[in-house]
Amino acid sequence: NRPLRILGIETSCDETAASVVLRETDGRGEILSDVVLSQLEEHSAYGGVVPEIAARAHVEALDTLIAEALARAQMSLSQVDAIAATSGPGLIGGLIVGLMTGKAMARAAGKPLYAINHLEGHALTARLTHGLAFPYLMLLVSGGHTQLVLVRGIGDYERWGTTIDDALGEAFDKTAKLLGLPYPGGPAVERAARSGNPERFTFPRPLVGEARLDFSFSGLKTAVRQAAQAIAPVGEQDIADICASFQHAVSRTLKDRIGRGLQRFRETYPDVGRPSLVVAGGVAANQALRVTLDSLCDKNGFDFVAPPLHLCTDNAAMIAWAGAERIAAGLPADDLSVSPRARWP
Ligand code: KG4
Ligand code: ZN
Repeated sequence: NRPLRILGIETSCDETAASVVLRETDGRGEILSDVVLSQLEEHSAYGGVVPEIAARAHVEALDTLIAEALARAQMSLSQVDAIAATSGPGLIGGLIVGLMTGKAMARAAGKPLYAINHLEGHALTARLTHGLAFPYLMLLVSGGHTQLVLVRGIGDYERWGTTIDDALGEAFDKTAKLLGLPYPGGPAVERAARSGNPERFTFPRPLVGEARLDFSFSGLKTAVRQAAQAIAPVGEQDIADICASFQHAVSRTLKDRIGRGLQRFRETYPDVGRPSLVVAGGVAANQALRVTLDSLCDKNGFDFVAPPLHLCTDNAAMIAWAGAERIAAGLPADDLSVSPRARWP
């Protein structure tokens, strides 16, 4: 039982990141440094993340970023207690870069290595930022994931719902692309939606009313395409109306799906007085969706917990923190033979 200083490494998608996080003996966390390099510019010309470009960009940037993270934390490698590196799920090229770097440093400095599941990083962030107690519900909505997860404890998760086709961020990105808006699509769609009429188009609300807690967004994208084709040439106001109607449909869908999740949480944990719903992932930046979730939580007696945006999107502080939590929980370090995993539920 001692303070832990953990170096975290994240390379699973298009952000190269390194961070040093401190965990006090009482469980409080402090981010000593948090360096993120987005590869957005490298990928934007292609309208999406190109795995090979991402892997090469990680190789080029990672050692400098790690040195920067240690320098900002005013620490040398010998002073960290352990190294935590994302080992999945994600793009395999990037995962190899980050995990191999972590292993090499662990070996050279004689430090334990923790191979972290990226999703666990997202799931535990609210304990770093808000000191949240277990159990709680987490909604992860990013370009790659759409999951409603029951967080019961360290390494103890139950996935209650997931997308059966596109991730929500992907639906935003594809909608933007169809309408000729820039990548990444989420912010562009949200901006356009502000001056649009959400009632002009009635887009599908997939799985609404169903008892299971899954999501589906590919039908929405198809409906957007059909709406755009029906009014070609599409003007600026049409784009705004489509975006507003799209966001409205997403909003309604989340309200139904998450609303059921909150109910199920209540039934599972009748003794938790005021439970929490935590959001994570890039789509959590969307103000309209935040308002929807916030009022849904309010109506159901839940706290709506939204960590600051830079900790909702991909970062290494959450990976370092997950490592610290695993150590504090007495979980063993990983063997240096551990392999990266592109898929890892
Ligand atoms: O978590 P993130 O930065 O990266 C990963 O996917 O891991 O999420 C990126 C996703 C993209 O699909 C982007 O379009 C979406 O988050 N996004 C948004 C907004 N800002 C980013 N979606 C809706 N509204 C936004 N304001
Ligand atoms: Zn992520």
